[in-house]
Amino acid sequence: MRKVAIPGSFDPLTNGHTDIIQRASTLFDEVVVVVAQNTTKACWFSLEERCTFVKESIQSFANVSVDVCQGLLITYCQSNNIKALLRGIRTFSDYEYESSMSRLNQELYPELETLFMMSDKLVAHINSNMVKEFARFEGELSGWVPKHVEIAIINRIKQETS
Ligand code: PNS
Repeated sequence: MRKVAIPGSFDPLTNGHTDIIQRASTLFDEVVVVVAQNTTKACWFSLEERCTFVKESIQSFANVSVDVCQGLLITYCQSNNIKALLRGIRTFSDYEYESSMSRLNQELYPELETLFMMSDKLVAHINSNMVKEFARFEGELSGWVPKHVEIAIINRIKQETS
């Protein structure tokens, strides 16, 4: 049974994330999208909201599920018998960040392997921070995020400004 976890903060889920999830679903028997806390980021959306973004986007994939990790990712992986993580790579700076994160995780949990998947060139420019910045200036988000995420972002900005 080839099982992999795709961890991330998904604040919000973008078409870059869904591309990685879809491609992973064809390579692994089971894919768990793990919505985690990144304490270096101030999130716009709660863990529950971010989970819902994922849930609504994975309905057509029978082998993909979503879960929440409230603490350390390695603790989550150890408790759920997960030995492989998959992270998307868009740029060289992604690689620098991801390589130290994967070494740190492996030092703490030696059986855990981190695999990297290159982002598709059509979505490699998308990142969650840019989506939020663009949305604040009423930029067009279709093509960057799924429709239901676009609606949540617009609602969030409306609430903020009302
Ligand atoms: O989508 P992101 O923000 O790049 O995802 C980063 C994430 C959530 C995978 C990473 O911050 C993480 O693993 N967080 C869980 C807490 C943890 O294990 N941190 C490790 C460093 S101490």
